[in-house]
Amino acid sequence: MIVNETLRLYPPAPLVVREAKKDIRLEGVDIPGGTTFVIPILAIHYDKELWGDNAAEFDPSRFAEGASKSSRHPKAFMPFTHGPRMCLGMNFALLEIRLVLATILQKFTFVTSPIYKHDPLYTLTMKPGKGAQVEVKREDCEAQGNIIENLFGKSGFLVGVIE
Ligand code: HEM
Repeated sequence: MIVNETLRLYPPAPLVVREAKKDIRLEGVDIPGGTTFVIPILAIHYDKELWGDNAAEFDPSRFAEGASKSSRHPKAFMPFTHGPRMCLGMNFALLEIRLVLATILQKFTFVTSPIYKHDPLYTLTMKPGKGAQVEVKREDCEAQGNIIENLFGKSGFLVGVIE
């Protein structure tokens, strides 16, 4: 639920582009063949008509009954898009996220640093505009510290280890 809610508010791909292969009528709108259009994933994920008045709030419990029941439309949650050109790596990515988190949380706790400034940057992909500074508390094991540095340190994240 936490992973899904994070992907809703901060979808790594904030939009995708598609081209209509033929004339179609979609929800009463005529789209001529050849039209290029944007599917604004980010805007759909923040739409109050779909997600309610608290659309901008982090509320993992939306996903308590699964992604298709998280909003008023079964396909509104679309970090990987839907259909034949949806993300091929979706299952791998979701497994990877869970494995990495489970591995880290066995030995570490972490919180956002006081110097972190929330500033999501929407370009082709979404990223933290001013970095993602986290403070990591190591419970006991030196070896796990290396894993944290590999994951965050070398990719430009600032890591503070609190003894
Ligand atoms: C949280 C992680 C990920 C997210 C949110 C994500 C999201 C997306 C989105 C939105 C698309 C559609 C792009 C478009 O049509 O313009 C896409 C396509 C694709 N993704 Fe991912 N992706 C993720 C991770 C991965 C991983 C780990 C892999 C490979 C191991 C992968 C492989 C692909 C491939 C091959 C396509 C192209 C599919 C096609 O065009 O038929 N993705 N992804």
